[in-house]
Amino acid sequence: MPAVSAVAEVHGSIGVIGVIGAGAMGRGIAQIAAQAGMQVKLFDVQADAAENARKAVLAQWEKLQQKGKLTEQQFHSAKQQLQVVTAMDAMADCEIVIEAIVERLDVKRDLFRQLEAIVSAGCILATNTSSLSVTAIAAGAAMPERVAGLHFFNPVPLMKVAEVIAGLRTRSEVVQRLVAFTHQTGHRPVITKDTPGFIVNHAGRAYGTEALRVLQEGVAAFPVIDAIMREAAGFRLGPFELLDLTGLDVSHPVMESIYQQYYQEPRYRPSVITAQRLQGGVLGRKTGRGFYDYTDGAQTVPQ
Ligand code: NAI
Repeated sequence: MPAVSAVAEVHGSIGVIGVIGAGAMGRGIAQIAAQAGMQVKLFDVQADAAENARKAVLAQWEKLQQKGKLTEQQFHSAKQQLQVVTAMDAMADCEIVIEAIVERLDVKRDLFRQLEAIVSAGCILATNTSSLSVTAIAAGAAMPERVAGLHFFNPVPLMKVAEVIAGLRTRSEVVQRLVAFTHQTGHRPVITKDTPGFIVNHAGRAYGTEALRVLQEGVAAFPVIDAIMREAAGFRLGPFELLDLTGLDVSHPVMESIYQQYYQEPRYRPSVITAQRLQGGVLGRKTGRGFYDYTDGAQTVPQ
């Protein structure tokens, strides 16, 4: 059985990966890895979630094929590479397992402990966490040196960058292997230290929180703030469009987590607007209603 130090010696491309959690992020990661020729084993604790994700990925590939961005041969081989598994034991031969499950430290730690009893000692355990400490997640593992962050962005196939996060005890070979993996998927890796929110959710945090303050102070309506940030400031999505895309069930807890990790630094204070909407289940695109209404398929401003 190879030791984790042997990761450095394992040159060449990555062949087999596991993805745990088949939600918005897990399915995207599975898609790009299978498209890049890796064998992908996708698992979700919820019955049918992984199979539904596989169907959604196949639909994406069909669209890409129709647009001429994927040949029939590429579609066929990507399809062969994406495998739904119904038990985590199937991850035994994976070189990297990436988790994209619920954003809770105890659940992520527990998952990595379970995985360590299944995978080889050379297997890397990567977390797609947005806001939790990679070092804290790794501390629950028997071999914390094999744990690192690999933070993709939503939607994964379109957002061509990923943060590779070294926890305090992560071996540099593990970071290098994740950098190689990210390149292999056609995405660009950016190495960052383990700090609350890493780079994007730290530096970009104010995009949401300041826009929410502008809204709360009654300076302008949210569609106006979105329009000016898109048209004048050049952002691809306005801050409220972005909150709707991510979903408040993900983004509000991220805001809270970063605020708490910085010892309640006022710059990162979350908003009562998103807290109330979260409590009311008005989450964004995934519930058909967020700041905007999506019930008829288009994005409209609720009257
Ligand atoms: P999601 O809610 O769409 O999907 C999570 C999936 O994980 C669900 O299908 C759920 O059944 C499954 N799951 C939960 N606990 C599990 C367990 N113990 N074992 C196996 N499967 C389990 O969540 P989403 O949005 O995909 O987020 C996943 C992770 O990625 C979170 O850590 C989140 O913070 C992070 N993330 C989310 C982004 C976003 O914009 N949605 C962006 C970047 C990171």
